[in-house]
Amino acid sequence: MRFTLVGAGAVGSLWALKLQQAGHQVHLVTRHEEVTLERSFEKTQPVKFSANQPDLLKDSDCIVICVKAFNVEATIQHILPHLHPDTPVILMHNGMGTTDTALRLVSNNPLLFATTSHGSLMLTATEVKHTGIGETRMGGLNTLGMRCDFLADVFSHALAPCCWDESIEQALWHKLAINCMINPLSAIHQITNGDLLLPHYRDQLISLSEEIAFVMNAEGIAISREEVLNRALYVAQATASNYSSMNRDIFHQRRSEIDFITGYLVERAALHGIATPENTVLYHAIKNLEQSYDHT
Ligand code: PAF
Repeated sequence: MRFTLVGAGAVGSLWALKLQQAGHQVHLVTRHEEVTLERSFEKTQPVKFSANQPDLLKDSDCIVICVKAFNVEATIQHILPHLHPDTPVILMHNGMGTTDTALRLVSNNPLLFATTSHGSLMLTATEVKHTGIGETRMGGLNTLGMRCDFLADVFSHALAPCCWDESIEQALWHKLAINCMINPLSAIHQITNGDLLLPHYRDQLISLSEEIAFVMNAEGIAISREEVLNRALYVAQATASNYSSMNRDIFHQRRSEIDFITGYLVERAALHGIATPENTVLYHAIKNLEQSYDHT
């Protein structure tokens, strides 16, 4: 298949290499004109990808948007003029809160969402490290997208497992919970995901999991506080050497996805009249760090 991946960050680069290795043609849309990527610690040749070619974008069999949540709208606007009406478009990012905009803008194409718990890290601008085996869940956001279940098999063949989800909303909530548990704490303390397994963080993780479970229950997702905690600890263990995406954003003084992760949780909690003091403290701590960049 001919893929276009928009965004060559840690997750987009990992999928670009895996899809290319599985025999697909991969074209990238990024800030750079030509992109070379290589997998860290694997004895394979660096791969050169063509980039930013309107014809390749138009001829794509599938477009995967791997940009940060806050860039989704601008990215869709950018690719819209080159989008063939039959081409499936897949959103793949952390957090929630972008689907209404995407559904409005991409109303005639199959639209899907894929969420992954694979750990991936850019060691340099070209070197990608797959830091933890996770899973990918994919599902349709509109009727046309719901007919594209074959794409889960295509993705699974490139980087297993990728499961098709009839209710992708539920999978997104499960991933949101993991990101609310891991990302802000690992960013504030500048620690690896694995460090969160230390006893020092356990009480705070328990309080966070309690609030998150309450909100998920109010959203119609049956989950216990213990399950929220255990799922997050499992991912922290599986990606122990990884610095979370928010950790990297704060480290490099970039904007983080906090508004679409903890911010989304806190917003939904408020609508249900649920108090989320622990999550709110983390939300403001990250916002303060982001604002402090302007004063340096
Ligand atoms: O945001 C991230 O870094 C990832 O979603 C995850 C799964 C927490 C691994 O680091």
